[in-house]
Amino acid sequence: MLKKVEWFEQIFNNSGVGIFIVDKDRNILEANEAMCTMFGYKYEELINKSTEFLHIDKASYDNFAKVAFDKVLNNESLNLEYMFKHKNGNTFWLKIAGDSVKLNKEVLWTTTDITQRIEAEERIKYLNEGLNKEIKQQVKVLREKDKQLQYHARLAKMGEMLNMITHQWRQPLSAISATTCFMLAKLSANSFDQKEFSEELGHIEDYSKFLSKTIDDFRNFFKPNKTKVDTTLENIVNTTLAIVNPILVNSNIVVIKEFECKEIIHNYENEIGHVILNLIKNAEDVLIERAIENATIKIRTYKKDNNAILEISDNAGGIPLEIIDKIFDSYFSTKTEKLGTGLGLCMSKTIIEDNCKGTIGVRNEKEGSVFIVSIPL
Ligand SMILES: Nc1ncnc2c1ncn2[C@@H]1O[C@H](COP(=O)(O)OP(=O)(O)O)[C@@H](O)[C@H]1O
Ligand SMILES: [Mg+2]
Repeated sequence: MLKKVEWFEQIFNNSGVGIFIVDKDRNILEANEAMCTMFGYKYEELINKSTEFLHIDKASYDNFAKVAFDKVLNNESLNLEYMFKHKNGNTFWLKIAGDSVKLNKEVLWTTTDITQRIEAEERIKYLNEGLNKEIKQQVKVLREKDKQLQYHARLAKMGEMLNMITHQWRQPLSAISATTCFMLAKLSANSFDQKEFSEELGHIEDYSKFLSKTIDDFRNFFKPNKTKVDTTLENIVNTTLAIVNPILVNSNIVVIKEFECKEIIHNYENEIGHVILNLIKNAEDVLIERAIENATIKIRTYKKDNNAILEISDNAGGIPLEIIDKIFDSYFSTKTEKLGTGLGLCMSKTIIEDNCKGTIGVRNEKEGSVFIVSIPL
């Protein structure tokens, strides 16, 4: 028996778990050393005192009665994490289990200090919140950048479109102007010939029709496709060439077409047309910049595996190896601000890969660069 008492005393004092016994009025009857250490008080400072001063305030003391004390007295099981106050004024967390003893006249509390764990959890929570905020911020920044990119790309496209319309219009506009000059001269020389004048007016009408048709063609070409259509690469290339051809002719660039792939593709026609236009414009830019003689752009289509392949190549000498990995990046350009935005290839890649589910790539050959677009059949 004596041995058993000693044994219990040993556990009571050295287990590392805080143990204390309180009466029904919540006065401390007994406390072990671990308990004293946790709260920072000497044994004498605790015994026969109300537990109130161990709580952070009166409200917390009252609340503890509800969430812990009364439950234990009712023989409900309890496993609670609760905040207390150390003698030095600091707050800390205890994990508490309680049992009523002596026929509900006393409660035996066992406690373990979990401040470190709680603090770690709070730190993690804080870090997580910070991280979440950071991620949200970054997503916002990316969205903003994306929006800006789309906006710049649209501006660039509109700029290019205007430039092409200007080229398309130059010839008919000067023809109209020449015709009216001619008619005015006739009038002032008093040599009005009804048949001749009605013929000339007919020409002016044709030119005007051509001008308005160009606008329609451009509008159609630059309208984004909502649905996929059945078409061929040849068809798209020819539509696109109809739009850029005046510019190419003006720059003395010869276009060679080799259509081997007659296969039907089911895809976004205008989008692919824009990509072809970007590639042709890039070839034209470099041919002019490097003042290449016999400037040529070759457009070739063929079928490989289950893909329709389009190759656009030029004889301008190719892409310097140190930049070839960057040319599809947004805003990468070797041109002056007026001539290039650095968005053409980046947008082309997005269109081909994301919209058309194809691939786009480039390689250098002896004569110049070759851009390869692959569209699934
Ligand atoms: N056919 C080509 N030959 C040589 N370099 C090219 C060719 N096409 C594109 N590049 C290079 O890739 C860069 C990026 O092209 P792009 O994205 O269309 O932007 P931008 O034409 O506005 O400069 C160009 O500035 C140029 O240096
Ligand atoms: Mg470009």
